[in-house]
Amino acid sequence: MPPAHRRDLADDAAFDELLPIYLQHKSSIHFTPVDVARHAARLLAPEPGMSVLDVGAGAGKFCLAAALAMPSVQFVGAEWRPHLVRFATRIAHESGQANARFVAVDALALDWSRYDAFYFYNPFAEQLFDPKVALDRTIDLEAANFVRYVTAVRQRLACARLGTRVVTYHGLGAPLPPGYERTRADAIGTDRVELWIKTQASTGAAESGR
Ligand SMILES: C[S@@+](CC[C@H](N)C(=O)[O-])C[C@H]1O[C@@H](n2cnc3c(N)ncnc32)[C@H](O)[C@@H]1O
Repeated sequence: MPPAHRRDLADDAAFDELLPIYLQHKSSIHFTPVDVARHAARLLAPEPGMSVLDVGAGAGKFCLAAALAMPSVQFVGAEWRPHLVRFATRIAHESGQANARFVAVDALALDWSRYDAFYFYNPFAEQLFDPKVALDRTIDLEAANFVRYVTAVRQRLACARLGTRVVTYHGLGAPLPPGYERTRADAIGTDRVELWIKTQASTGAAESGR
């Protein structure tokens, strides 16, 4: 694989060439296009110094393209496949992208209160896919996991502070919890990029399943 340069982070085909062949074939389905990433980054972080969590970062494409477009914003990608985190980290180092970093972890194990904004490219939908369409076979896929993770994310977002920003591309898999207002829905490529902002405190009870 060739060493990464900044210019590769602004071009879909060039980014894909930084990945192993099996991921190049999956990239257009599983990873955010660069123009979507740039647009989403502007919606997520309008002020310098903000921090954004990509919930399910894959090989880092969203964070890396967004970090290039918004150098004064911190992007953190949580990804539970360690081999993808290694690709993302290598690309960040080689391209000198210091404001994008990656953590090998179940995103639900992190403290979400540290972040101002959250990006979701429908990270749990893979649980419902035919295994042939999944990114790879390194994790167990079960429909019950989809429900469990989407429910947990809604609970996290229900507890987030006022002003929290959420951008979805191809959705989250469920509506956002009460208290979030959709302030943008922009058609880009094959789907919509939606910006949601938490404008009212959630009741909590409804989201905790009680
Ligand atoms: C559709 S891909 C999006 C990748 C990246 N956000 C992008 O847009 O380029 C979803 C990713 O989420 C990861 N993922 C799914 N559930 C996760 C979880 N609970 N914790 C961490 N990563 C997760 C998957 O392994 C996959 O790499």
